[in-house]
Amino acid sequence: MTSKQYKDLSIKEFTKAAEVYETDHAGVYNMCKKDYPDVLAELEKEPFDCLLDCGCGTAPMISLLHEKYPEKHYTGIDLTPKMIEAAKAKQLPGVEFVVGDCEHLPFEAECFDTVICCESFHHYPNPQDFFDSVYRVLKPNGRFILRDMTMNGAAVRWFCNNIEMPLAHMIGKGDVGIYGREDIQKMCDKAGLHMESFEKRGFCRLHCVIRKPETAPQTALTLGDVQETALIPLTIKANESRRPDHRIYDAKAVEIIEGLRIDTTQYDKFMSHEGVVARTILFDEELRKALKKYPDAVVVNIGCGFDDRFSRVDNGKVRWYNVDLPDSIAVRRKCFAQRDREFNIEGDLLSDTWTQDIPKGSVTIVIAEGLLMYFTEEQVKHLFSHIRDQFGKGYVLAELMHPMAAGNSKHHDTVKATKAQFHWGIADGREVELLCSGYKMLRETSFFEEMKKYTVAAKIGNLFFKKFNDRLAVYRFYRAEQGK
Ligand SMILES: C[S@@+](CC[C@H](N)C(=O)[O-])C[C@H]1O[C@@H](n2cnc3c(N)ncnc32)[C@H](O)[C@@H]1O
Repeated sequence: MTSKQYKDLSIKEFTKAAEVYETDHAGVYNMCKKDYPDVLAELEKEPFDCLLDCGCGTAPMISLLHEKYPEKHYTGIDLTPKMIEAAKAKQLPGVEFVVGDCEHLPFEAECFDTVICCESFHHYPNPQDFFDSVYRVLKPNGRFILRDMTMNGAAVRWFCNNIEMPLAHMIGKGDVGIYGREDIQKMCDKAGLHMESFEKRGFCRLHCVIRKPETAPQTALTLGDVQETALIPLTIKANESRRPDHRIYDAKAVEIIEGLRIDTTQYDKFMSHEGVVARTILFDEELRKALKKYPDAVVVNIGCGFDDRFSRVDNGKVRWYNVDLPDSIAVRRKCFAQRDREFNIEGDLLSDTWTQDIPKGSVTIVIAEGLLMYFTEEQVKHLFSHIRDQFGKGYVLAELMHPMAAGNSKHHDTVKATKAQFHWGIADGREVELLCSGYKMLRETSFFEEMKKYTVAAKIGNLFFKKFNDRLAVYRFYRAEQGK
């Protein structure tokens, strides 16, 4: 069916329903009444002034609200003229009712601090248009409360959307689709909205609180700006942070991904997700340990992308240098505010100039996370030698990949979605000692060591395939005249 056919069907259904909608003979629509107390309770959690009810019907919600908070401003919109006629007949003073389509809300930008939508959303053939439209009319920091039907399990929802609803069309119902948490999350991401909570209440109710971020999304940031491989850890950190039981939290990643408004599904697959979470935890722990020993160290995060480790491990003393290619640093500057003791350096790690503005003489801790596998062995050797010669004394925390994985970029679950290719892998971290003098490996930890805490597959991996997963290796380095 076309969008117009769906909408015509809804109008037909609700033209009939309008007369009985708020009576005791409302039949199936009596179900909607169960939503009102929950929406009221949600609204009571914070003050509001200007509220829009999308798909308001005969305005049962606005009536309740108006009785309780008569001084607020209310607007109701509905596609079915008969519903709006019934709403207007209530003659609620100061309330505005409009016949219109919620997929294209006919209001000025940023004119409501609150938008509610109860049991209407499943009638919209273009749900993303509705989310985009809500984004436009909401004020910054405004709230959007969505109540609708849902079902647990993608298979059950598929059945409802593809079998049950088409059958219901035959008896004059205008239902189009019901959605799960991930569908709603994607719509929020694309619209630039932040999903604060998603609950399934009772048998089949979705109760979702969504917010328009206070600051405009990263205005000038587009996908073209971003080194695509940096999107993989960024997406994963954002998605992990949104989980109620998140293992790592990166508010900046959430903010940037929401600002980008792109489909990031291909950048977050199970293995990569678990790997990025594990490496974030392992690198953070290792760095905290090192900073306990050397609180005044200089930390240099090479190939930093959008990493925000500084905010997680800052001890109030460390001097922190993020190094990446000029275009990446330019984008980074747009996303991160200037912070004390943190500096961004535009530099090509394969040149000999990127270190010139970084202070020498202190213990230097270099982080190379998700980086070295994209270089050739020659380039890695050059980079390690340069670090040793320039900084004299310190540590390198490096992510290492196994040669088998390095030869298989095109089968990697997320990197295959980008144009990047792996080149360098080693089966044993000590090979670096042979590659470059002045380096001593202190320990090497397989990412499985962390991943095994969360899945059985990783427990098995940790028993049999430790070296085949990526590892975090810690090296001490010293320049010959520097001594150990
Ligand atoms: C089940 S009623 C819900 C009414 C009310 N929100 C409540 O909770 O009782 C669904 C309403 O959505 C309206 N509707 C369906 N598609 C719409 C659209 N594209 N734009 C605006 N309203 C729409 C219908 O006309 C109907 O009044």
